Amino acid sequence: MRVSLMDIQAQYGPLRPRIDAVIADVLDGGRFILGPEVRALEEEVSARLQSRPCVGVANGTDALVIALQALDVGPGDEVITTPYTFYATAEAIARLGAVPVFADIDPVGACLSADWAAEKVTDRTKAILPVHIFGHPADMTPLLTLAAENGLAVVEDAAQAFGAWDGEWAVGTMGDAATFSFFPTKNFPGIGDGGMVTARDETLAERVRRLRFHGSKDKVVFEEVGFNSRLDELQAAVIRLFLPEVDRWNDHRRQVADWYREAGLGAHVVLPEERPGAKCVYHLYVVRHPHRDALNAALKDEGIGSAVYYGIPMHLQPVFRSLGYAAGDLPVAEEYARTGLAIPMHPHLTREQVDEVVAAIGRAVTRV
Ligand SMILES: Cc1ncc(COP(=O)(O)O)c(C=O)c1O
Repeated sequence: MRVSLMDIQAQYGPLRPRIDAVIADVLDGGRFILGPEVRALEEEVSARLQSRPCVGVANGTDALVIALQALDVGPGDEVITTPYTFYATAEAIARLGAVPVFADIDPVGACLSADWAAEKVTDRTKAILPVHIFGHPADMTPLLTLAAENGLAVVEDAAQAFGAWDGEWAVGTMGDAATFSFFPTKNFPGIGDGGMVTARDETLAERVRRLRFHGSKDKVVFEEVGFNSRLDELQAAVIRLFLPEVDRWNDHRRQVADWYREAGLGAHVVLPEERPGAKCVYHLYVVRHPHRDALNAALKDEGIGSAVYYGIPMHLQPVFRSLGYAAGDLPVAEEYARTGLAIPMHPHLTREQVDEVVAAIGRAVTRV
């Protein structure tokens, strides 16, 4: 039996007639940019996030750049972030002329550690940018305390974690701003590029709205250098259709994680753990094994989808060479980068497929 890493078709298939219908409605309406669908999506997401104002943008990367700029991050400022993330997180900081400062991650959950972040605070630190990686919420309480004690802004990169919770708090409601991505493989996807910023208050949201539209409120007066970063109506209409499905999809992802554990996967590889009080939505299911690359190759032979996410941590990427980090500086992140392997995880996996994956991994680890 072949089991794929993700299965976008299975996810969209049952919704296809409704997707076709909402696309037809947008075409009939003839309004394609920043119209009623985007506004409705912003309100519907806001209703799930303690009424925080939400602003749709073109993608999750722009969401980060715009959120940081709206919080006045600029040239020379330092932003403390995780080395274990997709490049866009660090790129957004550098795009503004600010300096990404990498601090190590918590061994459980693999997100930015407040203890290590605290050691990186300087006079130039402007913000902290934790990432809820693979759907696991960062431990926000100590990060928010650290930020409050030092007068720093907090931006949550929640691209992979819509619907996750840190204790009583929904991901996306804890920082001064938070960002989402609707990239089609995300746990809350669209059918193309899309993103969103949530803001702590209307003033900040207004600035985000202005930045997404060339720094102007009205296309007449231009107040700052912004972006053309708008979410389009077709995309928003489809994302709205997916919104009521996300909890069910997330619940199934959590079910699959339980199945992996029950089926004995932990005998073969190190399983991802949930921090007590955290509710992970398993955007990806990343196990660890010392011979990760060999295991990855062996699973390909078995017909099981697997992939390395973040094999080179950000502090060791060539683009950041001038920042002067060396191998060994951030050992927990480096260990994850060396040993982590994503295995099949999506909302349509069956128990039978999970058993097949576990059996295949059991066979593969004897050969690596
Ligand atoms: C953690 C993280 N941040 C930011 C992004 C950027 O999102 P996008 O691809 O929508 O620009 C992604 C995904 O691609 C991501 O995984």
